Amino acid sequence: MGETETGARAMRPVLRVLGGEALTPPPAWMMRQAGRYLPEYRELRAKAGSFLDLCYTPDFAAEVTLQPIRRFGFEAAILFSDILVVPHALGQGVRFVEGEGPRLDPVADRAEIEALREPGDARIMAHLGPVFETVSRVRAALPRETTLLGFCGAPWTVASYMIGGRGTPDLAPARGLAARDPALLDALLNRLVTVSVEYLARQLEAGADAVQIFESHAGALPALPAGETGDALARFSFRPIARMVAGLRARVPGARVIVFPRGSGLDGHVRALAETGADAVGVDWDVDLASVRARLPAAAVTQGNLSPETLIEGGAALDAAVDAILAATAGHPHVFNLGHGITPQTPIPHVERMLARLRS
Ligand code: CP3
Repeated sequence: MGETETGARAMRPVLRVLGGEALTPPPAWMMRQAGRYLPEYRELRAKAGSFLDLCYTPDFAAEVTLQPIRRFGFEAAILFSDILVVPHALGQGVRFVEGEGPRLDPVADRAEIEALREPGDARIMAHLGPVFETVSRVRAALPRETTLLGFCGAPWTVASYMIGGRGTPDLAPARGLAARDPALLDALLNRLVTVSVEYLARQLEAGADAVQIFESHAGALPALPAGETGDALARFSFRPIARMVAGLRARVPGARVIVFPRGSGLDGHVRALAETGADAVGVDWDVDLASVRARLPAAAVTQGNLSPETLIEGGAALDAAVDAILAATAGHPHVFNLGHGITPQTPIPHVERMLARLRS
């Protein structure tokens, strides 16, 4: 990293907060900020072909990453890609069905898991090459003060799609494997840990400033019967993520990591920060942010929590929700964000109102 780049990083507000500084107002970005609520996204999406073509075409992926930055001036851009490019790179069949979401050729038994590419297989990172190319193009085009976030899915969340073949409401297939053969699930998670460390390291090397690990399906784990698996949230989520964080920092010293343990409840959010070693915890909108803050050390870094439904509602309810987040995090390092991804029906003026309220 050159001296100019070091200097530039020092003035990126999101990075400063991830390093423990409390900023007023807090810097902001939105999960899924590049997406179907934006007409410019829908226009480019129609040209790109399939959703995966969009992810793997650096010109297009870089452009949609930049769209919400140009329109709203968010303090962070997030790489446009998907958590399911990793199973795809492992050789699993992945496609996105219009209006239905992702479909994978499920892996269910030892033979199918062992048939996936081994973590050291050069074809995996070669497959992901366009993602790294997108990262470096975005970094070159972004304003100096804008933080660029890379990301991947946490091993359990990615595995739940690999096993279920789709987003099943209760994650029955993945929970079934956890109950039937927890050691086999551990083995799959381990492979994902190794591949994800390399994947994130290369995103950082290509120009990402920090990364977010999406554990969107953490919520299915506390409910697992303890039985032989013991503490399922620790075993299948937090410990694999902790190995990722440690492995990443060994590869890229000082790497900054946000963990997003969606659905894990108040206790899960507090534990996630302590047990994974991440720098910051993304708080979903099911938990009360003030209660999370009360349980965390004053210097802990939080992100998120605004309900995507309140953003759709807009008006006074939105103003009140923004104010409540500011009140709950005053004096503490916090990155303003939603508690889950923005949805396609969100009116753009509501996003503008949210930012105006935040920055007023
Ligand atoms: O946040 C961003 O703007 C960056 C891009 C991003 C996408 N997916 C683009 C996307 C990120 C960070 C993700 C992560 C992701 N993908 C997660 C974790 C975050 C979360 O939402 O909990 C998960 C579980 C996935 C898997 C996935 N991808 C699903 C279940 C779906 C279908 C649901 C839907 O919204 O359509 C996707 C598709 C997807 N990923 C879209 C986008 C913009 C919509 C695809 C389209 O344009 O048709």
